Amino acid sequence: MLDLGLLLTLYPPMNRGAMNTPEPAIRISGLQKSYKDLHVLKGVDFDVARGSIFALLGSNGAGKTTVVRILSTLLKADAGTAAVNGFDVAAEPGKVRESISLTGQFAAVDPILTGRENLVMIAKLRQVERPKEVADGLLERFGLTEAGGRRVATYSGGMRRRLDIAMSLIGDPPVIFLDEPTTGLDPEARIEVWGIVQNLADNGTTVLLTTQYLDEAEKLADRIAILHQGVIIVNGTLAELRALLPSATVEYVERQPSLEEVFLALVGDKTPNGKQDKEERS
Ligand SMILES: Nc1ncnc2c1ncn2[C@@H]1O[C@H](COP(=O)(O)OP(=O)(O)OP(=O)(O)O)[C@@H](O)[C@H]1O
Ligand SMILES: [Mg+2]
Repeated sequence: MLDLGLLLTLYPPMNRGAMNTPEPAIRISGLQKSYKDLHVLKGVDFDVARGSIFALLGSNGAGKTTVVRILSTLLKADAGTAAVNGFDVAAEPGKVRESISLTGQFAAVDPILTGRENLVMIAKLRQVERPKEVADGLLERFGLTEAGGRRVATYSGGMRRRLDIAMSLIGDPPVIFLDEPTTGLDPEARIEVWGIVQNLADNGTTVLLTTQYLDEAEKLADRIAILHQGVIIVNGTLAELRALLPSATVEYVERQPSLEEVFLALVGDKTPNGKQDKEERS
């Protein structure tokens, strides 16, 4: 069932008002959050520069969605501060909601409506001019023109995901949160989404992205942070993260470590594709 309250929360009219201020688009300091006894965020700090793509990585349950929910005012932090587009999430949640859109792990697509009806509904909530034209433009941009007249219940997972991202672009929000935007997409659709995200950032939109696909972070992100055991354990460019591990020399050809190798070295005991296990056994 469609949750109208959630929709109104997620899709108020847009406010690009504070865009020209020099402060970062997102600023988080000392953020803490517990669910009963589970202390998920233990003091999370990071900034995201305007117009940049920031990837937040972490194992399942690390707290990535929790950070995104706090930043999008769906959840209150226990301690610390967070500001989005210059507005404090606790003091000015309405202003924050006017500055953002959110897509990903909690898609707000209504399966009973057609793709076009979903888009028109959000365009009306966001009070954009000519909602039908906006909807048709987005359907075309996302390769959904043919499917636009069909109920979303009949869409494939990839089509739904594309529609969800299209909905989040309505009204041109200055800050976009993409929580695992390409999970479940086929390789072609993922590349398509990457192009869209890159294009957003090129046009000045700030993107905070969470992902389990480390190649996605490698490909897209200006900065990458790893959330582990409640804190950010590293935050840097891909080159800075790679420099944390010595590059391996294989047959006299120097090879840079992949982000996956850096991630696993910092976070866990697992080795990519279980390579170590095989080597140990042989
Ligand atoms: N509403 C809730 N009530 C209780 N525990 C919760 C709630 N939401 C999340 N958690 C727990 O908090 C931890 C962090 O969850 P969160 O969804 O933020 O992780 P995540 O990094 O997004 O994980 P994933 O990669 O699986 O999406 C998990 O252990 C989760 O079970
Ligand atoms: Mg999550």
